Amino acid sequence: MSTWIKAEVIENRRWNKDLFSLTLDADVAPFAAGQFAKLGLEIDGKLIQRAYSYVNPPSSKYLEIYATRVADGLLSPRLHELEAGDTVMITKEATGFFTLDDIPESEHLWMISTGTALGPFLSILQEQEVWQRFRKVVLIHAVRFSADLSYQAEINALKKKHSDQILVQPFVSREPTAGALSGRITHALEDGMLERVVGLPLSPEKSHVMLCGNPQMVKDVRALLQLKGLEKHLRRKPGHITTERYW
Ligand SMILES: Cc1cc2nc3c(=O)[nH]c(=O)nc-3n(C[C@H](O)[C@H](O)[C@H](O)COP(=O)(O)OP(=O)(O)OC[C@H]3O[C@@H](n4cnc5c(N)ncnc54)[C@H](O)[C@@H]3O)c2cc1C
Ligand SMILES: NC(=O)c1ccc[n+]([C@@H]2O[C@H](COP(=O)([O-])OP(=O)(O)OC[C@H]3O[C@@H](n4cnc5c(N)ncnc54)[C@H](OP(=O)(O)O)[C@@H]3O)[C@@H](O)[C@H]2O)c1
Repeated sequence: MSTWIKAEVIENRRWNKDLFSLTLDADVAPFAAGQFAKLGLEIDGKLIQRAYSYVNPPSSKYLEIYATRVADGLLSPRLHELEAGDTVMITKEATGFFTLDDIPESEHLWMISTGTALGPFLSILQEQEVWQRFRKVVLIHAVRFSADLSYQAEINALKKKHSDQILVQPFVSREPTAGALSGRITHALEDGMLERVVGLPLSPEKSHVMLCGNPQMVKDVRALLQLKGLEKHLRRKPGHITTERYW
């Protein structure tokens, strides 16, 4: 059973009409970068709860979650409406295995996200461990429109700080955007474009791939990686692909 505590909304940063980030103040238990908590609001007398990954590293004073308003969703439109000073319920303990503790050694770490699944990667990238363990870190963020490319200032700061290690490749699928590949990650993987543009091979010898977000993207990309010899990573059978599905 989860322990629920109150979180105070410090800020609701609205990136566009759907995407938003909540900064929260709550006395949560220590967590690992990449984990998620549950947020809950009472709706019609019932606590409606959903999972949200932390964007902030564990050392931050405040918590941050990055979310999208799902048009016909139950909880996310209500979270989108929250303002500074409002209260939301949060689980005291975070959970999940999408953390570096569960990633085996490899030379290159690929982080592939769609939409709001950029969040857990930003948390991991703000910790020292990832820079000590991997020679190169590739961050891929795929969105529909250029206005969905949030957190550019934070990503640029990471590029500046870790210029010899980080490779960032955005994808914008539904409009041409300077600096981004168009179309889907799956297409760029199939025709070799992704490896060419990033400048690194995807292979079982060198790569570990973390996939997060749209469940169909996770499934399709995993199938394409399996054609290259990469296997699903399990604790009892180490492999090269670690996944987290958002729905
Ligand atoms: C481990 C885990 C971590 C998650 N972390 C995040 C997070 O950090 N940020 C976040 O926005 N969501 C995250 N989610 C999804 C989140 O828990 C909710 O499902 C989402 O906010 C929709 O809730 P809802 O009640 O509004 O919609 P519901 O009434 O539950 O409708 C769910 C439908 O919304 C769509 N959907 C759900 N999540 C997304 C999404 N992120 N992007 C696009 N479409 C979506 C899907 O079509 C899904 O079938 C996570 C889910 C899991 C399982
Ligand atoms: N009702 C639904 O079934 C449904 C499904 C998803 C999202 N939505 C809603 O749409 C809004 C925005 O969602 P979003 O843009 O954040 O998320 P998204 O639909 O997951 O799209 C993010 C990126 O992932 C790409 N993508 C989707 N499926 C893929 C696959 N199988 N393989 C490779 N890439 C894939 C998309 O490409 P494309 O542009 O080519 O799709 C887009 O570039 C949200 O409000 C959400 O609720 C609804």
